[in-house]
Amino acid sequence: MAEAGDLVLSDVHRDVVATRVVKNVTTSRFPFQFPDQTAVDYDDDGDAIVYRREQCLFLIEHAMATPFSDVGQQVWHGALLLADLLLNMKDRLGEIVVLELGGGVGLATLAAALHAKTVICTDIGDDLLEMCCRNVDNNLAALGDLVQASVLVRKLDWLEPTPPQDGNNKWSQQDLTLLSHTNIIMAADVIYDDDITDAFFSCLTYLYSDVFTTQSPLVYVALEKRINFTLEHLAAVSPAHQHFMQCITRHHMTQHGSSIKFTANQIPLQNITHCFNYDRSDHMEVWELRITKCS
Ligand SMILES: C[S@@+](CC[C@H](N)C(=O)[O-])C[C@H]1O[C@@H](n2cnc3c(N)ncnc32)[C@H](O)[C@@H]1O
Repeated sequence: MAEAGDLVLSDVHRDVVATRVVKNVTTSRFPFQFPDQTAVDYDDDGDAIVYRREQCLFLIEHAMATPFSDVGQQVWHGALLLADLLLNMKDRLGEIVVLELGGGVGLATLAAALHAKTVICTDIGDDLLEMCCRNVDNNLAALGDLVQASVLVRKLDWLEPTPPQDGNNKWSQQDLTLLSHTNIIMAADVIYDDDITDAFFSCLTYLYSDVFTTQSPLVYVALEKRINFTLEHLAAVSPAHQHFMQCITRHHMTQHGSSIKFTANQIPLQNITHCFNYDRSDHMEVWELRITKCS
C-alpha cells in the first residue's frame, strides 16, 4: 500500500492536453460530447434530422504527481466515468440536489451542474477546496447559459462528518437545509485504502441517520479497481475492492444504536454513453447503492 509521502500520478494526466502550467498547477482540457441525440426527430417529409453532437470543454486546474495524501488534487478515471454517467442521467437530474463526497478538483460536480438544480461538492484540505472553487467559478463562467445550477464547494471530512460551521468553506444554515434535501449522493475513486473506505461508509451512515430526515438518496460510486500482486494470495488481487464489497454487504451501526444496510446494483458500463475521452478499462465499475434502515 502507498505511504503518505509516495508520489503517485493518475493515468488521466498521461492522456490529456495541458494548456498552462504555473508552478505546481497544470490546467488541462477535458473535452466532452453530450450523449448522441440522433434518430430522434424527423422533418415534415419524414427525413431524419441528424443533430450534430455538441462539443463542450471543461478546463480543469489540477496537480500532476502528488503525495498519496494529496491525490484529490489530480483527476482520476472514476471522475470521468461518473461524469459520463451524469451526462446520461439528464432526465433524472432536473430539479434536484446532488451531493458529491470527495469531489477533488470538481470535474464530476461540473458535469452534474449541467443538468441538476444544485450541486454541493465536498472534500477536505484548504488548497484542494480553493482549487475546486476556481475550477467551478471559471467553468461556470465559460459555460454561460448551458449551466443553470448553483454550485457550492464545502468542507466535509468523513472522519468528522458534522458539517463545520466555521473556518474556510463552512456551511451556512441555508446550506445545511439544502444538504438535508439531497436527492443523489455521488463519489468517484474513493475506494483505494481500507481506512478511507471505512470513513466513507461512516460518513454515509451519519448522513442517513442524522441529516437526511425525509428521504433516502441513492448513492452512485464510480471506481477503478487497484490491482496488486500480493504474496499472501500469490495472485493479482484488489484488496481495496474486496473491502468495498464487504462494506456494501454488511450492516452499519448508527450512533443512535440502529443499523442501516445497502442494496447494491452494478450498472453495466455499456449502458453509459461514453462522453469524455478516456479508455474504459475492465477494472472500472459504477455502483448504485440504495439504503435500507434496519431497526
Ligand atoms: C483519488 S481522489 C478522487 C478525487 C476525485 N473524486 C476524482 O475522481 O478525480 C480521493 C478523494 O477522496 C478525498 N478524501 C479522502 N479522505 C477523505 C476524508 N476523510 N474526508 C473527505 N474526503 C476525503 C480526497 O481528498 C480526494 O479528493
